[in-house]
Amino acid sequence: MLTTRLTERLGIAHPVISAPMANASGGALASAVTRAGGLGMIGGGYGKSDWLAEQFALAGNQPVGCGFITWALEKNQIALDETLERSPTAIFLSFGDPAPYAEKIKASGALLICQVQTVKDAKRAIEVGSDIVVAQGSEAGGHSGKRASFALVPEVADTINASGSDALLVAAGGIGDGRGLAASLMLGADGVLVGTRFWARDEALVHENMLAEAVAASGDDTLQTSVMDVARELDWPERYSAHTLRNKFTDQWHGNLDELKKAGKAEADKWAAAWIAGDTDIANTMVGEATGLISSVMPAAEILDSIVSEASDIISNSFKQNVKQG
Ligand SMILES: Cc1cc2nc3c(=O)[nH]c(=O)nc-3n(C[C@H](O)[C@H](O)[C@H](O)COP(=O)(O)O)c2cc1C
Repeated sequence: MLTTRLTERLGIAHPVISAPMANASGGALASAVTRAGGLGMIGGGYGKSDWLAEQFALAGNQPVGCGFITWALEKNQIALDETLERSPTAIFLSFGDPAPYAEKIKASGALLICQVQTVKDAKRAIEVGSDIVVAQGSEAGGHSGKRASFALVPEVADTINASGSDALLVAAGGIGDGRGLAASLMLGADGVLVGTRFWARDEALVHENMLAEAVAASGDDTLQTSVMDVARELDWPERYSAHTLRNKFTDQWHGNLDELKKAGKAEADKWAAAWIAGDTDIANTMVGEATGLISSVMPAAEILDSIVSEASDIISNSFKQNVKQG
């Protein structure tokens, strides 16, 4: 057992939150993580109402949270309103200014979790009253900013402390096992957010070809790129790009985005069809550097148990394996 301020404040057994991965983390994964003692998140992403209704139904009575891509909410606030009516434990906002939604979320009784990529973002998250700030490093799967976790997490810890806020800090990006959890606690975090490791699990809404690739890949095989966003015709702000496995499609278009834009709908259709078919030469396996720490697809509960028990062992053995004291 690892008790932290996060487990105490949320009333959960383990200091682990599963990432709200757009379209990939549905109600089955979120509820499995909550049942196993963490906090599960549905990946509300760009806010598709029908999909969200199905996934909340699948989560059943388990308390779960829901994430949204903040810049996309501007065009689709109804998705947030519908979600708040379902009484989620938390709303998780990332990639944009949380200010327009913060008051409404907090007034509903849901916790406000803001994922940040810079210290400036963290200050904004504190200012709008975030209950939890997630410091996301660029090792992360899916979209992120440019800063890596190792210096970002302690700098955000210092920023929260200096502000006098009682917001909790969660680390994200590249955490795939107990070593990542233990290290995050040492850097000043109260817990971790795990995406890539839960992406490759039994409750996946992910094609099996992609799961196989994620298990086989090394972190060296990943790339941060906007190719997928251009191919999907998504209007992502320039400061964010996405970690994914390299493939023939990214080899062709990374560094050649203007040409990809010109190719337009033909390439967009090709990518979309490949995603459904699980053609990993074209559609991208969306994992971060932690993919190199995955050696099998397991149920979410087993993943959670192994992360927590490994971290507990490391902490209680005081690093005896690799630190010689005295
Ligand atoms: C497939 C995938 C989709 C993601 N989609 C979202 C998303 O819709 N909204 C969001 O806030 N973060 C999203 N993320 C990022 C996660 O919130 C989190 O920061 C990241 O997974 C943590 O790093 P890790 O992947 O190394 O565990 C996504 C991550 C992955 C792997």
